[in-house]
Amino acid sequence: MRLNSPQINLITRACMKASRSLIRDFGEIENLQVSTKGPGDFVSSADKRTEKILIEELQKAHPEYGIITEEAGAINKNNLKNRWIIDPIDGTMNFLNGIPQFAISVGYEEDGEIKCGVIFNPIMNEMFCAEKGNGAYLNNSRIRVSKRKKIKDKIFSEYINVSKNVSNVRKFGSASLDVAYVACGRFDGYWQRELNYWDIAAGIIILKEAGGFVDFFEDDKNAPLKKNILATNSNIHEELRDLINKKDIE
Ligand code: IPD
Ligand code: CA
Ligand code: CA
Repeated sequence: MRLNSPQINLITRACMKASRSLIRDFGEIENLQVSTKGPGDFVSSADKRTEKILIEELQKAHPEYGIITEEAGAINKNNLKNRWIIDPIDGTMNFLNGIPQFAISVGYEEDGEIKCGVIFNPIMNEMFCAEKGNGAYLNNSRIRVSKRKKIKDKIFSEYINVSKNVSNVRKFGSASLDVAYVACGRFDGYWQRELNYWDIAAGIIILKEAGGFVDFFEDDKNAPLKKNILATNSNIHEELRDLINKKDIE
């Protein structure tokens, strides 16, 4: 991998470290499914443990950086210049049910712009990462979005309603991986309403660096961390955007 800014190295190391206990925890889920208590509490402690490791690792290098993270909220709130955006487990329901479609997602933002990010599915051992200006990678291979130009019969990930114009739709349950899959050409597009910023912060830079296009529709100025996202291979962006505007997909 030819990415080597201090930030990407730091995020990658933090994700690798946090993934060790996450993989162990995932291995326990199967036993917990049959226990009377069920896996709910266990998952929330796995979430918190993963988050704690990520925060500790990132703070070792930069204790002053701001952090927005799903479980603990905001840390060093006044630092808007340098911020980490963290989702310790994106795809909690999958994790909870023993489905290996979840990821650690960490983005790094400078002056409000995402500069680099990592999305790591530790069970599949797939690490998506990108750095502004230096491309996007899946493990050691450069990734690019698909080249497909027409939306009919292409493959998408989405939220609820589907247009008659779009036939192959999957709902995989991890927004960060959905965006990463557009970035590497597995999906041609993805849209969803009411995501949180930490679901997609890392995905934004990974998709852009892979040649894709991301934009946000119907933004609510009063809720800057809530996002309605449209992420595509860029060729089909206008067409999908028109369908959303016409409420042909929701
Ligand atoms: C969720 C996943 C899911 C998306 C939800 C998110 P979580 O994140 O990304 O795909 O549909 O809107 O909240 O709760 O698993 O971190
Ligand atoms: Ca999430
Ligand atoms: Ca989460």
